[in-house]
Amino acid sequence: MSASLFHITFADDVPGAGARTRKFYLDAARVPLSLQPQTFGLWTIQRLPANELVAAVRVGRSSYTLLRRVSMRTLHHDGPGEVVMEDSREELMRHMPIWMAARGRVLITGLGLGCVVRGLLAKPQVTHIDVVELDPSIIRICGAEFMGNPRVTLHHGDAEFYRWPRGTRWDFAWHDLWTDDEHLQKLHFRLFARFMDQVGHQGAWGFPREIKRVLRRKFPNGCFLN
Ligand SMILES: C[S@@+](CC[C@H](N)C(=O)[O-])C[C@H]1O[C@@H](n2cnc3c(N)ncnc32)[C@H](O)[C@@H]1O
Repeated sequence: MSASLFHITFADDVPGAGARTRKFYLDAARVPLSLQPQTFGLWTIQRLPANELVAAVRVGRSSYTLLRRVSMRTLHHDGPGEVVMEDSREELMRHMPIWMAARGRVLITGLGLGCVVRGLLAKPQVTHIDVVELDPSIIRICGAEFMGNPRVTLHHGDAEFYRWPRGTRWDFAWHDLWTDDEHLQKLHFRLFARFMDQVGHQGAWGFPREIKRVLRRKFPNGCFLN
């Protein structure tokens, strides 16, 4: 496999993010090898080799890491559930607008593999990151590398109901939860409403076009990805 394959540029590259910036954040966000493949509860961390040509282009490295979870939808499957997050080049590229937009004090709902947090830590303009994560085992295993980092605080709780000290505010918030029992957009929408008065700019995945139009009017500086 040729090393130059790792640097192929995709058509969806973010305007304003040059090749060096993109590489900088993609490298920073990757899951470190110290996070070992393992199964805990309904979760599995899997590391797969990317030895096919297409996989090399999509993944951008010789291996990549996936976070999977057994859900109601996948209960009858043989494998370790559905993919909730992966650190392939393709997936991380979709996160680039977050790293471009974030600054100051940042709120992240949903830790997952920690890719968003790693990318944010690479940006000196991000002064502090509060992460709220529902699953204590995700905090224990995926959050271990952030323990003791003065720029990160991991909070255990449900992002919808976690109680923050009065007056807490953030400059930017990114919502990236995962659920197998209701539409994710509804959950993200509720988070937008909940944090509306506490956050300067908010963003989340996957709102339908009509909803995005309404949200953009209401939150002109929001960040709404497909
Ligand atoms: C898609 S992953 C996040 C991936 C993450 N952005 C990353 O960089 O790897 C979703 C995470 O949200 C967490 N989660 C799901 N529902 C939640 C809730 N109500 N409050 C907080 N975290 C939640 C899941 O446990 C999971 O760790």
